[in-house]
Formats: sequence, structure tokens, C-alpha cells
Amino acid sequence: MKKLLLDVDCGVDDAQAIMVGLADPNVEILGITCVHGNTTVENVCKNVLRVLQACNKLEIPVFKGAAKSILGIKVGDENFHGQDGLGDAPDAGAPGLDLIQEENAVSAIVRIINENPGEVSLVATAPLTNLALAVRMDPSLPAKLKGLYIMGGNTESRGNTSVCGEFNFTADPEAAYIVLNDYQCPTYLACWEFTCYNKLPWEFCDAWLAQNSHKARFMAKIFSHSIEASKTERFEKEFIAGSGLISCDSYAMAAAVDDSFVVESDQFPVSVELVGAHTRGMMVVDTLGLLNKTHKVFIIKKVDMEKFRKMMMAALK
Ligand code: BDR
Ligand code: CA
Repeated sequence: MKKLLLDVDCGVDDAQAIMVGLADPNVEILGITCVHGNTTVENVCKNVLRVLQACNKLEIPVFKGAAKSILGIKVGDENFHGQDGLGDAPDAGAPGLDLIQEENAVSAIVRIINENPGEVSLVATAPLTNLALAVRMDPSLPAKLKGLYIMGGNTESRGNTSVCGEFNFTADPEAAYIVLNDYQCPTYLACWEFTCYNKLPWEFCDAWLAQNSHKARFMAKIFSHSIEASKTERFEKEFIAGSGLISCDSYAMAAAVDDSFVVESDQFPVSVELVGAHTRGMMVVDTLGLLNKTHKVFIIKKVDMEKFRKMMMAALK
């Protein structure tokens, strides 16, 4: 059984990634920690509960974390995810926030990893604020992690938020810097350009959502706003290499749940630009080894797309 802890800014694509994890019978999700990002951290908490409700998994503990970046900046991506982060689809029966645990997300990350040394993989599909705070609380944390799987960063300086910044890193560059420096454990990055080059065709998306299940109907409802947005000129530009379904957070999840999913990766030290008129938040790949860092991350290059399709389909069954 794989033990996972998820850190999310749920977000329609986070919802998809969570559902990929929940659908795998060999995965135990120990908890879901929430952080600011696509929407407010309160909305993120509500959204995670809605996803768990749709999947009949409300027993998984959900924790509320940081509401802003390390420097106190609040972002959002309402154009793509809707005002509430899940496409503004009405949901009268949504669970109440009283189901959120009292313990803060950062304390929960520290506690859960310490309770299961060497066994937990962390899947982060959001700004890395909670993870940065957790390693400051307990510097021994990375050594106790089995693996860290992140959706974030970019390799070709192609941005989806600023000229050359990916959303999760740009939303909290200091946190991304701390995490890439201090989490010296096996680390896998599903970067923005990689997810764009491996998008799924809209025909797949149609068949995916047309499955006769409660989960598929739930996804069709929360995803329709983002699908519409994806087909607009603005997002067509952002989504390198044409239009299609980019379930970006699901690649990090798929890598965490199945060791054979990643077929090829580059191994380099990486860092994050903290200053610069246009480059703040951009990931820097040290191909020449000039930063004198010993820790190299795995930058995912090629994955088993057939497996990905199967995992995505199973998520909504
Ligand atoms: C990432 O940013 C967020 O908007 C998405 O949920 C995803 O994690 C894409 O850059
Ligand atoms: Ca996300």
C-alpha cells in the first residue's frame, strides 16, 4: 500500500488529481492539506470536501493551511477555475467546514510524516507555502519522506501566469525556493511545459466525462467553466502546442501512485528566480552544475500515456 499525503489548492485540476489518487486500490491517502492558490484557502477546504463527498471518502482528514504566500501575497486563478475554484457550479448539499480538522495543515504535515518515517510520499499540486513552513518547523522532515511529487515550475521559461512563470511557483517563489533547496529527498517535477506537451485530446475528454457514473457527472459539472475558458484565445496562447485537456496536477499524482509511470526524466539541480523584472518565480535548471548543489531533482520528460488515460478513466468510474 502506498501512503500519500496531498497538498492542494483545489482547483478543478487538483480535483482531478485527487480523484486519480482515490481511485487506486493500492493507495492510502493519509490526509489532504489545503493552501491558498487557485482560490482562497477557505474555498479550497470546501472544494476538497466536495470532491471527497463525490467519491464517498469523507473519512479522509482535511486540514486548512496557509492563506497567503510567505511574503503575504494572495493570488487566485478565477478566470480558469471560477470564483469558487470549482467552476461556480451550484451544490446545495456540499459538506460544511465543520468537517475540517482543528489541527493546522502545517502541523499535520509534520506530524503525519513523523508518525510514518520513510513511508509517506507527499504530492504537492499547489503553491508550496505549507511545505516550506513545514520544513522550517521540522528540518528533519525531508529525510523521513519516501518521495516528493510536485506539479510546478517550468523548463523552457514558458509561463502560464507571468511571461515566464508557472502558477504554483510564481504564487510563492520563496516557498518554491525553500522546498527545492531543503527537501533533499527523491523529488519528481511535473513542469508546466511537460504537461502541455502531453495533453489529452478533447475527444478523450468527451468520452471521459460521458461515463455513466456519479463521479463523471460531478466532474462534468465542475469542469465545464474551465473547458469553455480553455477554448478561448487567451488560454490557447498559454497552452503551448495547441488545445486539449491539460490535467496538469494529475501527472504528479500518477507518478506518485505508479512507479512505472515515468519513463524518462532529466536529473539536475534546480532553483527559483526570486528577483528580476520579468523572471520572478521562474524555475532555473542548472544543467552545467554551476550552483554547486548536490541535490538533483527528477524533471519528468516522458510518461506512459496509455497508463495515464487508464488512470484518468478509472478516476471517474
Ligand atoms: C498549476 O497552477 C494551478 O492553477 C493549477 O491547479 C496547477 O496546480 C498549473 O500551473
Ligand atoms: Ca493545483
